[in-house]
Amino acid sequence: MAIRDIITYPDPLLLKPSETVTEFGDSIQELIEDMAETMFEAPGSGLAAVQVGVNKRIIVVNTTEDMDDAEKSWYALINPEIIEKDGVFVSDNEGCLSVPELRATVRRSSRVVVKALDRMGEPMTIEVDNFHAVILQHEIDHLNGILFIDHLSVLKRNLYKKKVKKHLKDS
Ligand code: NI
Repeated sequence: MAIRDIITYPDPLLLKPSETVTEFGDSIQELIEDMAETMFEAPGSGLAAVQVGVNKRIIVVNTTEDMDDAEKSWYALINPEIIEKDGVFVSDNEGCLSVPELRATVRRSSRVVVKALDRMGEPMTIEVDNFHAVILQHEIDHLNGILFIDHLSVLKRNLYKKKVKKHLKDS
């Protein structure tokens, strides 16, 4: 396993929809293991393949906030798709490893049902709620080229973009 570099906004790859996975060989298994290790190292609650520069529909999710326990309680979803969602969950301190130095409030669904393949390519469906549902919505957004800042008001989003531009110019 290896820790991979996480790409950050405004890298254009983050805005591109990821491609469907059709094979589940060694290179995909290695990528999934690397993604998990990268997520723990960061640390983060979830990671999409595009964030390590691989344009494939794969996410890894860490379901515990207890980092000592994290390596036992993660899973991967391949080609995940939200097939049902309802309720409202105000995600009040949302952040993203690819959008450094920003935390914001995002309105999410409080329950989602997700259809996906597991890492061996077997079909599965999971139903989750609250914080866990936020992680899945956030990571599946990444696969569609959507960042959490896209859910913010235009004003807040532009403030952030300006800050990044200035930072890039200064560095
Ligand atoms: Ni993210």
